[in-house]
Amino acid sequence: MELFGKMCRLPAALLFLSLIFSSLFSLSVGGDILTPTQHLPDDQILISVGERFALGFFSPVNSNNRYVGIWYKVSPRTIVWVANRQHPISERNGSLSITANGTLIITDQNSKPIWSSGSSDLASPIAQLLDNGNFIVKEAKGDGNIVPGSLAWQSFDYPTDTLLLGMKLGWNLTSGLNRNLTSWASPSDPAPGLYTMFLDLHGDPQIILLEGSKQLCRAGPWNGQSLSGIPDMMRFKVITVDFVIKNDEVFATYNTTSTSIITRLTMNYTGQVQHFAWLDDSQMWSIYMSKPRDLCDYVSQCGAYGVCNPDDSPICSCLPGFKPRLPRNWDLREGKDGCARMTELDCRNGTDGFATIEKAKLPDTSRSTVDRSMRLDECRATCLRNCSCTAYASANINGTGCIIWTTELNDIRVFTFGGQDLYVRLAVADLGLGSDHSHSRTITGIVVGSVVGILLLAVVGICVRMKRRRRTAATLGAIPFASHCNNEYKDDKDWELPLFDLGTIIAATDNFSIENKLGKGGFGPVYKGKLGEEQEIAVKRLSKTSTQGANEFMNEVILIAKLQHRNLVRLLGCCTQGEERILVYEYMPNKSLDAFIFDKDKGVLLDWQTRYNIIEGIAQGLLYLHRDSRLRIIHRDLKTSNILLDKDMNPKISDFGLARIFREDETTLNTRRVVGTYGYMSPEYAMDGVFSVKSDVFSFGVLVLEIISGKKNRGVSISEHQGNLLAHAWSLWMHGNGLELVDKSISNSISMVEALNCIKLGLLCVQECPKDRPTMSSVVLMLGNKNASLPDPKQPGFFPTRAPSKNESSKSKTNSASINGLSVTTVEGR
Ligand SMILES: *[C@@H]1O[C@H](CO)[C@@H](O)[C@H](O)[C@H]1NC(C)=O
Ligand SMILES: *[C@@H]1O[C@H](CO)[C@@H](O)[C@H](O)[C@H]1NC(C)=O
Ligand SMILES: *[C@@H]1O[C@H](CO)[C@@H](O)[C@H](O)[C@H]1NC(C)=O
Ligand SMILES: *[C@@H]1O[C@H](CO)[C@@H](O)[C@H](O)[C@H]1NC(C)=O
Ligand SMILES: *[C@@H]1O[C@H](CO)[C@@H](O)[C@H](O)[C@H]1NC(C)=O
Ligand SMILES: *[C@@H]1O[C@H](CO)[C@@H](O)[C@H](O)[C@H]1NC(C)=O
Ligand SMILES: *[C@@H]1O[C@H](CO)[C@@H](O)[C@H](O)[C@H]1NC(C)=O
Ligand SMILES: *[C@@H]1O[C@H](CO)[C@@H](O)[C@H](O)[C@H]1NC(C)=O
Ligand SMILES: *[C@@H]1O[C@H](CO)[C@@H](O)[C@H](O)[C@H]1NC(C)=O
Repeated sequence: MELFGKMCRLPAALLFLSLIFSSLFSLSVGGDILTPTQHLPDDQILISVGERFALGFFSPVNSNNRYVGIWYKVSPRTIVWVANRQHPISERNGSLSITANGTLIITDQNSKPIWSSGSSDLASPIAQLLDNGNFIVKEAKGDGNIVPGSLAWQSFDYPTDTLLLGMKLGWNLTSGLNRNLTSWASPSDPAPGLYTMFLDLHGDPQIILLEGSKQLCRAGPWNGQSLSGIPDMMRFKVITVDFVIKNDEVFATYNTTSTSIITRLTMNYTGQVQHFAWLDDSQMWSIYMSKPRDLCDYVSQCGAYGVCNPDDSPICSCLPGFKPRLPRNWDLREGKDGCARMTELDCRNGTDGFATIEKAKLPDTSRSTVDRSMRLDECRATCLRNCSCTAYASANINGTGCIIWTTELNDIRVFTFGGQDLYVRLAVADLGLGSDHSHSRTITGIVVGSVVGILLLAVVGICVRMKRRRRTAATLGAIPFASHCNNEYKDDKDWELPLFDLGTIIAATDNFSIENKLGKGGFGPVYKGKLGEEQEIAVKRLSKTSTQGANEFMNEVILIAKLQHRNLVRLLGCCTQGEERILVYEYMPNKSLDAFIFDKDKGVLLDWQTRYNIIEGIAQGLLYLHRDSRLRIIHRDLKTSNILLDKDMNPKISDFGLARIFREDETTLNTRRVVGTYGYMSPEYAMDGVFSVKSDVFSFGVLVLEIISGKKNRGVSISEHQGNLLAHAWSLWMHGNGLELVDKSISNSISMVEALNCIKLGLLCVQECPKDRPTMSSVVLMLGNKNASLPDPKQPGFFPTRAPSKNESSKSKTNSASINGLSVTTVEGR
């Protein structure tokens, strides 16, 4: 008992204390090894050599029972393995020992064995806690060295609720060892609870989560890159999952890209499988992945031949060529009875074909047949030859291997990201019917990947450019091609706006070449240009119809250039020479807002939080124009293509103040000509040409509803009530279904309270009567206070009661997706 010699020499008082606080401050036996000559009493622990793990007796929260367990030495202590999970010891005088032939034994307060690791036959065994959390029993030589390959037992073979790095979930087919995870019964009871995660060997092996004996969630078979039910795995960055199918073993395992990352995968007593990663800086576990996550993750929500899509409402639909088995239940949004074929298969005539379900999670493979070497065309032929074949798919996502189903198809869902093609056999009569479910989101991994890639490049581009621009802007005055407007036109001594020489602009834009043209706007075309080697600019060549003289123009531009706000596009300079009136802006390689929100693929990139930030930013910019700037600018042409996005997706309003330059209407509230874009124009402006800050508020409201819904407001005209977003939003709102307005591609990320408040705010802004609409300062207040209770909106001004006369108003087309976004409104009649 030399091990405890040290302890006996400790002062008695300390010993006493240590007994009292034994659970908190266990004394270590001072190593990671237990030999048959020692035993581990309740108050001592083994610590792995790198001090990552400890092993000893512990009590769960709110329990006095004692268990032998292994835990991560982090705070709070995180238990990863329990030996005697079903046999707690009620007193603090149990002990763990190893017999002379290598069997681990836990004895209780009466020295009665309550748990053992099973018989073994080692000559001189030792038990050791390794630094990966594995507790092993091995043969040791007389000198204490471990003999390689003499492993008799390891805790990794008997997982409880946690899978650590290096552990296997699955089977040793030689010994029949089946490693699975079973949740604790409760946080205070490690006994096996309701939930089990295991690897099912039937058919194509898949990972399944059970609640009791019932399937709860099917993570699905391995497709070479991810589990069919967790396509997100392909995007995991620091954790890699692997699935091994060999003759003698089948298992799943994971690894991390760096050994310093601390992780665990736990079958939680809540029924969730959670993959945690330890955050060193905040000293807590963060959830890296968790399943089930949405309704469609629960097994067979939509029955046989049904397809679950969490983004649809209702979530269930039938495969193409199938119809609800019990239509009444489906109408009541209960899809569990599944679907039936419209036309029976016609096997012998050989006329059957296949419908392709894209981005699918493969149906239950437990009764499927797999051939890992078959090609996809052979797979199809095999399916057609076998009259009971209902579907086929490739076993690997790279198109190799073949899975064939000869039973009904259960538990199919579709994803917005990942998934694979599933080919469902149909009678010729049902082919080409198209699906009656709308999983038409066709973002493929590649598209998303490349969009993200392009964005990244753009972001990097902007960063580099911004840095350079800051430098260039500082020296711009000294560059020979720029003289200053300030001498004649400034009214603040310290204000300088570079005045560009027309020659410079012509050189920068390659003489306004077609290739450099970014778009044509209401105030003139926009070109991309390059100053010197690096600095990219956007050049707006104002149409020559302006009645202003050069001086007047310069004064206006200088005033506008002084409007500086993080949500307004920066004006860098100007050029006036002869007839030319040119404005030079910062170039935004990122597209305008309309390029994102009206695009199915790219819309996904703007999640709810980003959209909310964009709405807030636009409101801030507009408030600045309306109230905080000295000029009190009314934008008059606010729309998605006039909102540019910077590298952080912050919105910047463009084309503000241009109405001033054209001096249409500064003194009077009546315009001679209506400028703007139908769909964003307030009724009073469209009808009567009357505008005010409240017309901008109206356009802002339309913007808000467009951003939330991802849909364009159509032109306002009596014949188009149906396609009108405001009418649609209003009707949903009045029927209490406001949330249905939210863009389906972001429905995972929405905050319901925020979304409802935003929709309400949008509706308040588009009310028919200008005086009912809030001012931008109220809007900013409402957006800032998420608990604000907003008044109830009245009917939007979406149906003009008088049709606008074609002569008095010039309709402008919405020229979508302007590259640079500097106004690309087309206004006729200028
Ligand atoms: C364990 O403690 C209980 C009371 O705390 C006592 O009755 C029992 O004899 C002790 N057993 C051993 C083996 O010390
Ligand atoms: C190992 O030792 C235990 C008791 O110490 C005994 O019951 C068991 O039979 C032994 N097993 C073998 C394989 O010798
Ligand atoms: C499976 O178990 C057998 C028998 O216990 C053992 O010999 C073999 O090494 C195990 N296979 C693996 C891959 O661990
Ligand atoms: C989980 O593993 C244990 C031990 O191998 C086994 O008894 C149990 O049947 C397994 N459960 C499932 C669902 O595979
Ligand atoms: C396809 O994936 C499987 C599993 O990952 C792999 O074994 C096979 O070599 C791959 N085949 C091709 C052609 O890439
Ligand atoms: C896990 O990844 C590391 C590299 O991060 C590698 O060295 C190690 O071999 C991997 N382990 C397994 C079991 O694949
Ligand atoms: C179970 O899940 C809850 C909620 O996510 C979490 O707080 C808890 O730590 C989890 N338990 C385990 C053992 O991981
Ligand atoms: C095969 O096709 C023929 C005519 O095309 C049709 O009359 C017959 O009913 C079909 N056979 C079956 C089993 O449906
Ligand atoms: C069809 O395939 C199933 C599963 O592979 C097989 O059991 C059955 O014998 C096949 N039937 C025919 C006619 O080939």
